[in-house]
Amino acid sequence: MDIRPLWLASLFLVATVAGDGASAQTHNIPSLPIWSVPEVGALPDDEHGRLVRRGRDLVTATYAHIGPVVADPAKRYAGNNLACSNCHLNAGTKKFGIPLWGLKDQFPNYSWEAGHEITIEDRLNSCMTRSMNGKPLPNDSAEMKAFVAYINFLSTGVQPGEKLSGLGEGKMPYLKRAADPVRGKAIYARSCASCHTPSGLGLRRSPADPSLGYMVPPLWGPDSFNDGAGMATLTTAANFIHFNMPNGTSYTQPRLTQADAWDVAAYVISQPRPQRAGLDKDYPDLLHKSADTPYGPYADGFSQRQHKYGPFGPIEAAIKRLKAQKAAPADKR
Ligand code: HEC
Ligand code: HEC
Repeated sequence: MDIRPLWLASLFLVATVAGDGASAQTHNIPSLPIWSVPEVGALPDDEHGRLVRRGRDLVTATYAHIGPVVADPAKRYAGNNLACSNCHLNAGTKKFGIPLWGLKDQFPNYSWEAGHEITIEDRLNSCMTRSMNGKPLPNDSAEMKAFVAYINFLSTGVQPGEKLSGLGEGKMPYLKRAADPVRGKAIYARSCASCHTPSGLGLRRSPADPSLGYMVPPLWGPDSFNDGAGMATLTTAANFIHFNMPNGTSYTQPRLTQADAWDVAAYVISQPRPQRAGLDKDYPDLLHKSADTPYGPYADGFSQRQHKYGPFGPIEAAIKRLKAQKAAPADKR
């Protein structure tokens, strides 16, 4: 059989679907095999359009609107001068750059870290208090409404229950050994210091005015994310770095080897940063605490160092055994 016509037909289909993305989204045509990020600029200049644009501004220039040195003290919610988009790359639209798309239907969901069900506002405030080292935004604040409007807009055309690919920061296999911060230090000097500076404190747009944010964000130090942030765990940092750094890297063409990404991430998380009080209250059910959580308490007998740098395989196996032990007597009842 000559398969060429089929092949041509499928090419044509892809092109059509991609080209029709915008109108399909606005007219709510069901289930398409290709979803593309909706365009903020195409929104009308009405109340909703302005709210979504405001949300995008808050994501890309957080420091300018709710940073720790903004003019109005009542708006100083963030504790550092980062932007959400320093981690949620391209305003939350980059595949495996921790995108903010397709989240509308993923919340509310149960969080083992919190020990209860959380809403999208709760999840966002987890980044406010950890990644941004600040205070939670009230749910009814203008800023929270704008953030949520933008995040929901990024779900335009996503079908209920549909989970888009590219969420999170990618997933490399674990290293069999512990990640090595000493080896990571040399990788940092070679591959990161040229942008993030040798001190790791980043490069401000203006040394005199922190409210202008960073050209290159800090990776540690007083103006960085705190020790309770997702980026302070080895697995998240290593995957994010592998699939996105040096900045501009695409997940299709990583530039660091996997081992180099694990080790340089170990170096980054070994450096000093703000400390969050009450982290021992995270994961009230310790059997559901991720093996790579760098702070205790723990239900397994492994050291804090192994929880921070790995290897995680033996920890996960031990947790699995503990869960099975706990389940066994309950089953007999
Ligand atoms: C230092 C990096 C960093 C910064 C800055 C940051 N975040 Fe996050 N954010 C993360 C990480 C890491 C995750 C967890 C990703 C995962 O679960 O794989 C996350 C998750 C989220 C999620 C849930 C995404 C999902 O896939 O479930 C939302 C919503 C979010 N962040 C919003 C924000 C907002 C809004 C800001 C700014 C106010 C912000 N974040 C700042 C690192 C950051
Ligand atoms: C070409 C310059 C450049 C290089 C090289 C580079 N980065 Fe980045 N990095 C950036 C920029 C710029 C951002 C913020 C991206 C944005 O805001 O769009 C960033 C963001 C980050 C973040 C998340 C934000 C934060 O404050 O934590 C981490 C983590 C990170 N880089 C780690 C690294 C590591 C580790 C290396 C070396 C392997 C590296 N980067 C190499 C420019 C660079």
